[in-house]
Amino acid sequence: MRLGEAALFDIGVPFKRDFTETISDAWVESRSLKSVWLYTEDGESYTAYNGRCTHLGCGYSFDKEEGVFHCPCHHGLFDLKTGAVVGGPPPRPLDRLEVKVEDGNVLVLYKDYRIGVAEKVEA
Ligand code: FES
Repeated sequence: MRLGEAALFDIGVPFKRDFTETISDAWVESRSLKSVWLYTEDGESYTAYNGRCTHLGCGYSFDKEEGVFHCPCHHGLFDLKTGAVVGGPPPRPLDRLEVKVEDGNVLVLYKDYRIGVAEKVEA
């Protein structure tokens, strides 16, 4: 998934991109809202996180004042730079996604992982 031109992302400020995933299964088509958080400290290397909290899958946001990601469902807290759990019940860090810069664009390989378990296992 292309997130945009690398030069347009602010350094030191996490950025959230929402998108809709459409899955077709015979006669049934379902859509779900997904999101990715992207962060860079130098404009060269990027960190991308799956937008679902690893506890029960809620969407989380960035708390500018505290400098951490905050999940409103059960107040899980995650470190901005590493995704590590710094508070609340989440059983593991945020799920990192593969990210690269190609031809000046930031590309992320989106995947979902099982929620509520300590191990990072693809869903
Ligand atoms: S779903 Fe995020 S802390 Fe429970």
